[in-house]
Amino acid sequence: MIVNPEIEKYLESLHRFNDPVLEKMERLAQKLNFPIVGRQVGMFLYILTKQKKPSLVVELGSGFGYSGYWFAKGLDRGLVALIDYKEENINKAKDFFKEAGIQNRALFFTGDAVEVARQFQDIDILFLDLEKSRYLEAVEKLKNNLSEDALIIADNVLWHGKVVDENPDKKTKAIKEFNEYMFRNFNSVILPIRDGVLLAMKKSI
Ligand SMILES: C[S@@+](CC[C@H](N)C(=O)[O-])C[C@H]1O[C@@H](n2cnc3c(N)ncnc32)[C@H](O)[C@@H]1O
Repeated sequence: MIVNPEIEKYLESLHRFNDPVLEKMERLAQKLNFPIVGRQVGMFLYILTKQKKPSLVVELGSGFGYSGYWFAKGLDRGLVALIDYKEENINKAKDFFKEAGIQNRALFFTGDAVEVARQFQDIDILFLDLEKSRYLEAVEKLKNNLSEDALIIADNVLWHGKVVDENPDKKTKAIKEFNEYMFRNFNSVILPIRDGVLLAMKKSI
């Protein structure tokens, strides 16, 4: 993690969002050691969604639906498309959404996230949490599928702090290349919460 562990613990301790399905998902993530975005990023996604009122959110790399759940909770109308190439993940996501009674806010897909997402037009929020080496390819392939004032959000862009390594490995190089591309071609900012979250919009300045 990027943030001092004590600060991280403090930030986590502040959260007071009680939701039994969300808590069940968090317990599952802990049991499986599955990398979910966690509460801080989750609430960030929720607030952005509430404020932006998107018609379509597309998630690349949904796992069993934890981040998608936060998007869905933030939707007044509109849909979130959850995509993962593991069917068992998507089946779990379907079950969790059903349990929470929010399955009508979501579309579920199994397959390569970048390829599946190409069927969508006017994506208002594109969320990247798939394999890190595909981030740049995903944005290049999907940039024409975005709405005019779309937001792009990408998780893990500080990659456990490895972005400042003197001899970065292949994955780290791919993340750095993605970050540089995003800062060159979009108005971008990286929030150093958890593992680093990038937020971007089309250039206006
Ligand atoms: C970090 S986890 C996602 C966690 C999820 N966003 C959350 O916070 O709850 C990454 C997921 O992306 C999936 N994945 C990775 N590359 C993918 C691809 N090219 N297409 C579809 N799914 C992919 C993996 O199966 C895994 O479930």
